[in-house]
Amino acid sequence: MAGLKVLALHGLLAAASAQQQQRPLRGSSSHDAAQSPIVDNSKKPLIDSEALQASISTKNLLKRAEKLYKIAKLGEDEYNHPTRVIGSDGHIGTIAYIYKTLSELDDYYTLSKQPFFATSGNVYESRLVLGDTVPHSAMAMGLTPPTKDLQPVRGNLVLVENEGCEADDFPKNVAGNIAFILRGTCPFGTKSELAGKAGAVAAVVYNYEEDAVSGTLGTPVDDHVATFGLSGKDAKPFVEKLKAGKTVDSIAYINSEINKLEVENVLAQTKEGDQDNCVMLGGHSDSVPAGPGINDDGSGSITLLEIATQLTKFRVNNCVRFAWWAGEEEGLLGSDYYVYSLPAAENKKIRLFMDYDMLASPNFAYQVYDARNEVNPVGSQELRDLYVDWYTAQGLNYTFIPFDGRSDYDGFIRNGIPGGGIATGAEGIKTTEEETMFGGVAGDWYDPCYHQLCDDVGNLNLTAWEVNAKLVAHSVATFAKSFDGFPERVDPAEFAATVAAGKYEKMAQYHGSKLFI
Ligand SMILES: *[C@@H]1O[C@H](CO)[C@@H](O)[C@H](O)[C@H]1NC(C)=O
Ligand SMILES: *[C@@H]1O[C@H](CO)[C@@H](O)[C@H](O)[C@H]1NC(C)=O
Repeated sequence: MAGLKVLALHGLLAAASAQQQQRPLRGSSSHDAAQSPIVDNSKKPLIDSEALQASISTKNLLKRAEKLYKIAKLGEDEYNHPTRVIGSDGHIGTIAYIYKTLSELDDYYTLSKQPFFATSGNVYESRLVLGDTVPHSAMAMGLTPPTKDLQPVRGNLVLVENEGCEADDFPKNVAGNIAFILRGTCPFGTKSELAGKAGAVAAVVYNYEEDAVSGTLGTPVDDHVATFGLSGKDAKPFVEKLKAGKTVDSIAYINSEINKLEVENVLAQTKEGDQDNCVMLGGHSDSVPAGPGINDDGSGSITLLEIATQLTKFRVNNCVRFAWWAGEEEGLLGSDYYVYSLPAAENKKIRLFMDYDMLASPNFAYQVYDARNEVNPVGSQELRDLYVDWYTAQGLNYTFIPFDGRSDYDGFIRNGIPGGGIATGAEGIKTTEEETMFGGVAGDWYDPCYHQLCDDVGNLNLTAWEVNAKLVAHSVATFAKSFDGFPERVDPAEFAATVAAGKYEKMAQYHGSKLFI
């Protein structure tokens, strides 16, 4: 999961081996049969939730986690510690491991790797001085370019009109100076780009709320300028000064770097099952640079790999498509790339997307994304309720957490595909009430090793992992068997029209770890 505070909304509680003969398929997916050799699965039992759940063992999960940690150690040469961050040998090894495991599954899946260019940014140093003040809340935005020649730039702070979403909002004297822009209405990237076009040497986006702004500019474009976020509290005296016609001589400095590198998503789709009606699920293959990421998201990606393995013992009615995304930690890059490049006809074949990111946090809560049909594509809520019903049936507690765009489901729901998922918590703090609901320690993070070196095999709670892996199995089995009662897909164009009409205004403000708007 990509970082930052989670405001916990409180919920109430919460086979036969494959045969390689190329006989024609009974069942639905005849067009696929023409394209690729098909395994005869006819002697296998039809997928069944109880049976798939029963195939989950902590022994298998743990074995894979240990393997993944070994792979993370491949990152040691370059990073001096285990990591699976994109570009590292640990990440390359992770992808190779996933792909190899899948390719040994008797041709049950159509496999592919989807390469794309990931943009990652590092801010090494930054400083903002407004008049004679160094505001504490000033924070360089993600994917910001550096200031010119990696040197401090100096200029007057110039108040931009409205919210700086139109070229006209930028007064002429922004040129050569520092644009001071109110947050809101359009993405930070748009504000920075317009500031750059107006000739600003840097930009500061200040909050309409008291809080700081930990934002990202999103995909780099040429006209972006070095951009900071600033809390509403720190901004207030300067807004007043500028409105009173005073000048605020300022200095901005950002030393940052933006890198582009090629990485890969891995995709596996059952050859059997209705190829026009797929249940899709994903986890992410990368970690942050700081550590091996065995919970984040080793736990999710291993769960998928294990279930993909166990699923081969069954026949399916609907196609099941697994994804291991790259570049989640850099801002959901892999899932975005995948969804935004789907043609409309392919988009429509995905009946829903289920996100599995961090399933075994040591101080866990059973968290269900509070996805609702009023503000998300229809079907998201039915998926949410599937998780709720399952926890309830097991006599387990759960909580709802915001469905706010912090993981790979974001691109899906923005493109009209119903989404949801479960998690066990990152850097949020367990409440006293949650301690009574789940055990563990109130006042501590759900995952005290979140985004750190100690996110290793010892960081996994196996009880939580087993429970959640079974729930993932249940979700896969349910939809692999039938979409009865699950809403039909809305046409992507129709969905885009309803978005344009403002229906989904309340959709996520986050994109990955950072605010983008
Ligand atoms: C669920 O939470 C309640 C407190 O709200 C607690 O008494 C109960 O033991 C919890 N159930 C489980 C299975 O942990
Ligand atoms: C996992 O969590 C449960 C419930 O809080 C606890 O009883 C158990 O000791 C934990 N196991 C590990 C390995 O941390």
